[in-house]
Amino acid sequence: PRTIALVVAAGSGSRMGQDLPKQYLTLGGKAVLRHCLDTFHRHPRIAGVRVVINPACRDLYDAAAAGLDIMTPVAGGRSRQESVRLGLGSLVEAAPDYVLIHDAARPFIDADTIDRTIDTLSHHAGALVVVPVVDTLKRGTERQGALFSGATIDRAGLFRAQTPQGFRFGAILAAHKAASTGLEMTDDAAVAEAAGLDVALVTGHEDNFKITNPADLARAERLMSEQME
Ligand code: CTP
Ligand code: MG
Repeated sequence: PRTIALVVAAGSGSRMGQDLPKQYLTLGGKAVLRHCLDTFHRHPRIAGVRVVINPACRDLYDAAAAGLDIMTPVAGGRSRQESVRLGLGSLVEAAPDYVLIHDAARPFIDADTIDRTIDTLSHHAGALVVVPVVDTLKRGTERQGALFSGATIDRAGLFRAQTPQGFRFGAILAAHKAASTGLEMTDDAAVAEAAGLDVALVTGHEDNFKITNPADLARAERLMSEQME
């Protein structure tokens, strides 16, 4: 099956609090975005890579993707969901069998996880990379302005969603079109579930975390230097 990686990189990185959006910050000598682009580009089962960007950041994108033979970027939207929808729409002509939607802010995606995601799509319409929840979960309750431990939530059967989130292309395109006027959803599996698609869970890796806050960038730097040793 022809598989295209759709990398969403049109966010502003507001929680990171830096001048540049986090996907353009430098990590281990190259842009955060470049790490996943290189991994997808050199993967033998990935036929193409398309990035969704904020057009105002075109120069940053060109520098980050310099010398890499990938598709021309397309403009994203105000929310992640809108950026994905616009990215999917841009792939109609290319008409891949599968699309793997990935956050630019996850530089540590590995080839084996990509393989497991693609393999899963031969049996299911969707494939969601997850890791199990290991912490004990508490619901906070507020009393007199302070926060107290309320209920303890059973973590058994709970997972944290990562990306890539892989889908059969026609199915996710239709699901995103149907979701376009509804609530904003933070991941594509939610969009797929709302359309009644069957989304199978794929075992991911703890290292494939999303860089969200400054502490995540420090963790990424540590992991990168360990991997380069
Ligand atoms: N994203 C996007 N278009 C948007 C919002 C987000 O393409 N309008 C992308 C981001 O670039 C990122 C991924 O979706 O790769 C995950 O989103 P998130 O971690 O929330 O990134 P930001 O929205 O950039 O960060 P923040 O929420 O802190 O502003
Ligand atoms: Mg965001």
